[in-house]
Amino acid sequence: MPTIYNILQATALDKVDAKVLLAHLIDKHLDWPKSSLISRDKDSLPQALVDDWLDLEKKRLLGQPVAYLIGKKEFFNVELTVAPGVLIPRPETELLVELVIDFLDMAKGCQIAAPKVLDLGTGSGAIGLAIAKNLPHCQVTCVDVSTDALDIAQKNAALLDLKTVKFHQGSWFDGIADQFDVIVSNPPYIPAGDEHLSMGDLRFEPSSALTDDQDGLSAYRQIFQQAPAHLNAGGLILVEHGYDQSEAVCQLLTSCKFVDIKAHLDLAGIKRAASAKLS
Ligand SMILES: C[S@@+](CC[C@H](N)C(=O)[O-])C[C@H]1O[C@@H](n2cnc3c(N)ncnc32)[C@H](O)[C@@H]1O
Repeated sequence: MPTIYNILQATALDKVDAKVLLAHLIDKHLDWPKSSLISRDKDSLPQALVDDWLDLEKKRLLGQPVAYLIGKKEFFNVELTVAPGVLIPRPETELLVELVIDFLDMAKGCQIAAPKVLDLGTGSGAIGLAIAKNLPHCQVTCVDVSTDALDIAQKNAALLDLKTVKFHQGSWFDGIADQFDVIVSNPPYIPAGDEHLSMGDLRFEPSSALTDDQDGLSAYRQIFQQAPAHLNAGGLILVEHGYDQSEAVCQLLTSCKFVDIKAHLDLAGIKRAASAKLS
């Protein structure tokens, strides 16, 4: 029977991807510790594991995302279930969670005792659930137009034992009557026809999570126009955007009468998010 060592030597997959897939299969099939990828790499593997490996290896070679193949993705400090109905949360989106936590941190002078946070286009629940997990005093509402996404987000809330998070199916603010202290969103922002839509993991993710099928800015126009009616005075609006959209998004915020507009850099030093306040 093949060993971990044999498989890693023989596979054409990227070695990091191969190790993630193997760790997932070891967890599924064997009562071995996480360290066994190294410590037991010369032990024979059971046939069922090898069969599953061959299946996952084939799918990964065809381009299927690792996160869909193992059904989960780490985001901020939570583990989320993911499936082809939702966008795979990206590390750069963690910036939005950090900024919201910073804004609502009582140690930094935030006076709001029970802040209300709205996550528009929640997908797997990544942003809203990470905020709820790290700031349990917040009342988080997660919205998505996709029922597939909302099902997965609700499943993730249950797995994370986040019982107070609310979910709403609809387009942006449709059916939302409340006022919030923070509105956060990572909407679809890739313009129609962009070459990235036919590359890498994006080929397998829902198109409605990636592109607005227009100029990439239509979601911001809709959200920024409606947000003032749902934001408390002094409240924060915060969005992720594409690598080349900072100026356009900040301009839209200005035209919708927001103040204190700021651009935020991701870890690669790219302007990746914009925030503003309601005066
Ligand atoms: C880029 S994904 C972000 C998912 C998640 N927030 C994240 O960061 O991983 C955009 C999400 O917006 C949702 N969406 C697209 N159009 C929408 C609309 N009109 N109203 C609400 N959600 C929408 C999509 O279904 C998708 O889940």
